[in-house]
Amino acid sequence: MTKIRLGFIGVGGIATGRHIPTFRTFDEVEIAAVHDVDIKRAEKVAEELGIPGVFAEIEDMYPHVDAIVICTPNKFHAELSIDAMDNGKHVLCEKPMAMTTEECNAMIEAEKRNGVRLHIAYHYRYMKEAIASKKVIERGMIGDPLVVRVRGLRRRKVPGWGVFTNYDLQGGGALIDYGCHLLDMAMYLMGDVKPVEVSSTTYNHLSRTNTVNEWGHFNRDTFEVEDHVSAFIRFNNGATMLFETSWAANIPEDENHISISGTKAGLDVFNMQVNQADEDLMTTMRIDYIKVDETFSRLQAEDFISAVKYGTPLTVASEEAKEVSKIIEAIYLSSKEQRSIRL
Ligand SMILES: NC(=O)c1ccc[n+]([C@@H]2O[C@H](COP(=O)([O-])OP(=O)(O)OC[C@H]3O[C@@H](n4cnc5c(N)ncnc54)[C@H](O)[C@@H]3O)[C@@H](O)[C@H]2O)c1
Repeated sequence: MTKIRLGFIGVGGIATGRHIPTFRTFDEVEIAAVHDVDIKRAEKVAEELGIPGVFAEIEDMYPHVDAIVICTPNKFHAELSIDAMDNGKHVLCEKPMAMTTEECNAMIEAEKRNGVRLHIAYHYRYMKEAIASKKVIERGMIGDPLVVRVRGLRRRKVPGWGVFTNYDLQGGGALIDYGCHLLDMAMYLMGDVKPVEVSSTTYNHLSRTNTVNEWGHFNRDTFEVEDHVSAFIRFNNGATMLFETSWAANIPEDENHISISGTKAGLDVFNMQVNQADEDLMTTMRIDYIKVDETFSRLQAEDFISAVKYGTPLTVASEEAKEVSKIIEAIYLSSKEQRSIRL
């Protein structure tokens, strides 16, 4: 394979704002084709960005590409990924992996039976804070992660564009759109753990009130999804996670927070510091610099290119992305049925 020919399915915000501009900077990639149910949008994007192929039917696009990037609403992730893999294409699919664990399992089966690579775009794993934290943990500096606190909170920022408040197309709100990134990042740092029990409550109260929203306008009458989630998650190794996410919290400012209390020391991921204690001293070690030469978008793209070209392992394994979806599904079910869910 000289160049990897990429085809895009869905060319809205994330395709044109992140993936196309990023992949275009790689010599070994050609953005060969686009498809969108909105064919006028596909034509416009192709014309503006000089992409040679525009296809109204996905099956007509397959012969012209080696890999597919799926950037549609969540509802279509599973069916489109499986179809592409069954046509022998590698797939980079936007997050979340799918709407349900069952769909994730079907995607993993398609990946295996076709011998292709399936990458889910959990890009927080490529941030410098994630890279530094992974090194701290793998070097044994905090011991085994035990108690994990995760907060992904935005102050009054419900996405006022696209279909983010549409339950049928997205399967949920703040959690499946935004909180899932922090959940994924925290689980990545925790290592090989599996969730065993989830208890949660979801809310959709704050965004229905007539208050200011910083990210454009959304229709409160058709707002079908949660804006706030709090959850408690137990893992198979005895570790636990306190998790909270919101699009529209009344807090002083937005907050991305992950802190991990390990058996030896504590790690604050976004402040990048390790808190430790011995017999008579408490110390804090700040991580001042981490050598990362690329943006997270480029690192994510590089990971996919390398997996397709050389068969290297992906930083986001599909099995791991499935565990995130499993928790998301359990959080929604726990809240709906007002009980803990055993997994
Ligand atoms: N990684 C991130 O940080 C991040 C950020 C934003 C969005 N996303 C994810 O990316 C996906 C798309 O989000 P977006 O913001 O680009 O949305 P968008 O609404 O801007 O674009 C979606 C595009 O998909 C097209 N589409 C809809 N159904 C389709 C189908 N069945 N087949 C082909 N095309 C179809 C729409 O016409 C539209 O052009 C979502 O899954 C979202 O969760 C991820």
